[in-house]
Amino acid sequence: MGYIPEDILQNIREAADIRQVVQEFVPLKKRGKNWVGLCPFHPDKDPSFTVNEDKQIFYCFGCGEGGNVFKFLMKVQGLSFKEAAKSLAQRFGITIPQRPVSKAAKKKKELSERLLDITLSAAEYFQKQLRDSSTAQAARDYLAERGLDEKTMDAFGLGWAEDSWDGLIGFLKEKGLSLELAEQAGLIIKRTNAPGWYDRFRGRIVFPIKDHRGDVVAFGARTIGLPGQEEQPKYINSPESPIYHKGKVLYGLFQNKSPIRKAGRGLLVEGYMDVVSLWQFGVRQAVASLGTSLTEDHARRMKAVTKEWILLFDADQAGLNAATRALPICYKMDLRPKVLVLPENEDPDSFVRKNGPESLGKLLDSAVSGIDFLVETGKDLYGSDTEGRLKTIDSALEAISMVKDPVRKSLLIGHISQRLGVREESLWQKLKEKSQRTKRLKIAYKEPSQEAETSSNFRAKMARIGNRAEEKIIGFLLSYPQFIDRFMELNPELWLENQTLNELWNAMTHLYSMTGRLNLLELYERLEHVPALRSTAMRLASSFPPCSELETMVRDLENYCLNRKKKALRMQLLQQLRDEGENEDCQELLKSLQSLR
Ligand code: CTP
Ligand code: MN
Repeated sequence: MGYIPEDILQNIREAADIRQVVQEFVPLKKRGKNWVGLCPFHPDKDPSFTVNEDKQIFYCFGCGEGGNVFKFLMKVQGLSFKEAAKSLAQRFGITIPQRPVSKAAKKKKELSERLLDITLSAAEYFQKQLRDSSTAQAARDYLAERGLDEKTMDAFGLGWAEDSWDGLIGFLKEKGLSLELAEQAGLIIKRTNAPGWYDRFRGRIVFPIKDHRGDVVAFGARTIGLPGQEEQPKYINSPESPIYHKGKVLYGLFQNKSPIRKAGRGLLVEGYMDVVSLWQFGVRQAVASLGTSLTEDHARRMKAVTKEWILLFDADQAGLNAATRALPICYKMDLRPKVLVLPENEDPDSFVRKNGPESLGKLLDSAVSGIDFLVETGKDLYGSDTEGRLKTIDSALEAISMVKDPVRKSLLIGHISQRLGVREESLWQKLKEKSQRTKRLKIAYKEPSQEAETSSNFRAKMARIGNRAEEKIIGFLLSYPQFIDRFMELNPELWLENQTLNELWNAMTHLYSMTGRLNLLELYERLEHVPALRSTAMRLASSFPPCSELETMVRDLENYCLNRKKKALRMQLLQQLRDEGENEDCQELLKSLQSLR
């Protein structure tokens, strides 16, 4: 299924009642204007999971999970956005129109289907060979020695390509399948000195490679060290074909996507054996890029499952290089990458076998953020002298320059500024030069100006008591958005001390200015890249009690805001005066202003 048009999504949004959907999974009881129940996302004894029908959102006060009906279904069933939308459409009787297809596209699709038919048959043949054939004894022994059990082999459909030139060809002929098509699918190779074909995979264990839909699109085949195979490459893989683009397929993604979604975290590893062996040990979260470097298409597929990924690489130079190359791509595609470098001479397969899944889990918890990894390895790789540090800064900025979300970018700059002891302004400057040099991005970030800095220092120095009142204001406006106009005049952006609330307020006014309304669900969708704001919005909206005396409430809040605004302006004025402190007249003015208070 392709792209779902926005108007259809809108229909789904309007028709899909969140309480009805949640109730299929969680029994709910009415409490006040919310419905409450036990949270399906964390072990919950007291019902802390709430559903608000007016606002069509859910929020759990226990674990902080919250969102709209799409999010609920994605999370509870491990679905992608599209899958959730489709399932809701079905539930609420909305048809998603099929887009018309061109002739060429139709032809291409037909060819793909025929090729997939052959690869599927071949996979079944290889698998049956591994189970039953007398020629597969060495392969069965090899796999047993590597510790793979039957359940695992079945789950990944492992097979055996016998050591012959025409094992598969014989099978294809017998089934009446086209050898031309088998060649196109990369299974057999045309002879050069005689008519006919020969098998590509011979005397090897076969790993069928499934794409994200679960279709077998290619194979990887490993030697088992038969006599005569010593000089051959360890793996032989299917070539690119109309159904296989290796820059787009991740091994194991199909088998593991649902557990990855549920765990909210995936592992990127290097090889077939890593994925398979981790799976057997219950770590059903790994996908492999199969020895090729990570591409944007890979990252896009990863993001469709979850944004949190740990790159698990070998401790050698090749592993470090692979991680360093993969990180900018991850950041560009808006993943949240972490990196874990394994102990020397271990791959995920050998590690989990030796130390067990608990050890691996502990190790995974110690993974560092991609940026920290670049800073750390930079030190090792380039040294800590000036030149070395410059190179380190470059590699970290390379990754940061890819980040699209300005808030995240700014946080990352702040972070490396601290870690490397370099002023933020210098980093911004360098980043700017970088993006100008590569002409990659229009300058999409906002440099923190001198002015903003001093006034934010000022804010930070102010007492923290205002917090609860600040939450109340934002919670109120999320619940009664019709009043937002009146509050915009009171400039909360100048004085909201809580940074998250301040950013949330900015997002709210931004949305309001653009669309002329403040709709909670729209706000929720727009905050996709800023989970902290998103969950704060959900929490405040869910917990705001209904108010009976609306006008009184508005007046009280307005008074409060007006006071804060005045105070903020006064502070600004003082600050200005202080900055111009050299001047005698100003000093006088300052004194009189202070005495006036
Ligand atoms: N690879 C390949 N061709 C090779 C060697 C490696 O395509 N000649 C790819 C394979 O996808 C392989 C991955 O690179 O899975 C990682 O290589 P390696 O770590 O050597 O293999 P493992 O998967 O660890 O396999 P094994 O544990 O059986 O050695
Ligand atoms: Mn290995």
